[in-house]
Amino acid sequence: MRIFEAHPSRAIGGSIAVPGDKSISHRALMFAGIADGRSEVQGFLASEDCLASMRAMQMLGVSIERVEPTRVIVEGVGMRGLRRAPEVLDMGNAGTAIRLFTGLLSAQSFDSTLVGDESLMKRPMERVAKPLREMGADVRTRGGTPPVEITGGHALRGIDYQLPVASAQVKSAILIAGLYAEGPTQVNSPAVSRDHSERMLRSFGVRVDVDGLSARLHPPTMLHGQRLQVPGDFSSAAFFIVAGLIGAGAQGLLIENVGLNPSRTGLLDILRRMGAEIDILRPRQSGSEPVADLRVHRSDLVGVTVPRELVPLAIDEFPVLFVAAACARGETWVTGAEELRVKESDRIAAMAAGFATLGVKHEVLPDGMRLFGIGGEPFGGGEIDSFGDHRIAMSFAVASLRARAPIRIRDVANVATSFPGFGELARTIGIDVREI
Ligand code: S3P
Repeated sequence: MRIFEAHPSRAIGGSIAVPGDKSISHRALMFAGIADGRSEVQGFLASEDCLASMRAMQMLGVSIERVEPTRVIVEGVGMRGLRRAPEVLDMGNAGTAIRLFTGLLSAQSFDSTLVGDESLMKRPMERVAKPLREMGADVRTRGGTPPVEITGGHALRGIDYQLPVASAQVKSAILIAGLYAEGPTQVNSPAVSRDHSERMLRSFGVRVDVDGLSARLHPPTMLHGQRLQVPGDFSSAAFFIVAGLIGAGAQGLLIENVGLNPSRTGLLDILRRMGAEIDILRPRQSGSEPVADLRVHRSDLVGVTVPRELVPLAIDEFPVLFVAAACARGETWVTGAEELRVKESDRIAAMAAGFATLGVKHEVLPDGMRLFGIGGEPFGGGEIDSFGDHRIAMSFAVASLRARAPIRIRDVANVATSFPGFGELARTIGIDVREI
């Protein structure tokens, strides 16, 4: 089993750039694969999750070449050019891949089966299968979870669907199936969720009209191959944002080329309410996404009640936000975050278990957590479990900055699903974490 050992370190600092965005990298491969002509993806995240999407597209007959570690050339086969995969498609740990591919494959003329690792095989799939069935697809789950079995050859019709949860994966799966449907497909969300699919489909020439919380896609005749630039992943930057707030020296910490799509940056709003000092420098556009550099200053954080409407905008950042809250003065309340229970692990339970070991007082809520921050005091060390969840592992590595003894984090292999090279990069700014 792979283990991180993180030792308390002196002040951190310097400048770093995080790898490419995971959500955008998955979508780039899928949309480029069904486009007409060649696409080039720069800044691609070559993590295990995105490589699972790459292998799946290749098994479906798309030629994809990684000409450089983060530069990929995709020879699009056109909307009708995919062919039946010779075997079951294994999506590994990647929730985004299995949801979005379920949408794509529901609309094909051939059958497909999708599976994943132990964690993925427990994740809810009916949220995707149900609307796809309403569109006319034949999608079956096993008691609500993978394997997902799709019988192809069914003509799809556009639907007007009210999402029960604010999920970009479900919204995207429906919109992708809608590319192939008869008539427009509309998805109405209960709250904002990331809109990378809408932005990228538009850049491929697809008409997607967005009106508040509704996205309406008009089926195209084709997608146009193009050059795509993937910004740095805000969710990966999040670990260093919190590291800088709780551990930076006088110069602060510079994080370059961070994607700042407003449907992803809820963490910045929450941290600012907690007293965080974060400068946004050189805001600019990277393809269809906004990016900037961030300078993070060490800040005395105070506990807050997190507004529920910010929860979906920060959904992947709660593990590391909990670490920030543990270092703050006073109480932090998070509610309305029940989706955390069905991520790569039950992230409420996983963080609570780690906090129990480190001596951080907390109360587990069905849909969140109440945390009693320790202010300027250090917390303890000890051995904790990541439950095979990349974001839990990285969050506790960041927590080591305020611990008085080493933290050992078990089962960290899955850090490579989203952030290959996390340990090396963390060490360059002075976080003393290594794999043992
Ligand atoms: C993602 C959407 C979110 C997020 C996940 C990536 C995406 O999931 O947690 O890491 O790329 O669309 P949900 O749609 O389930 O909220």
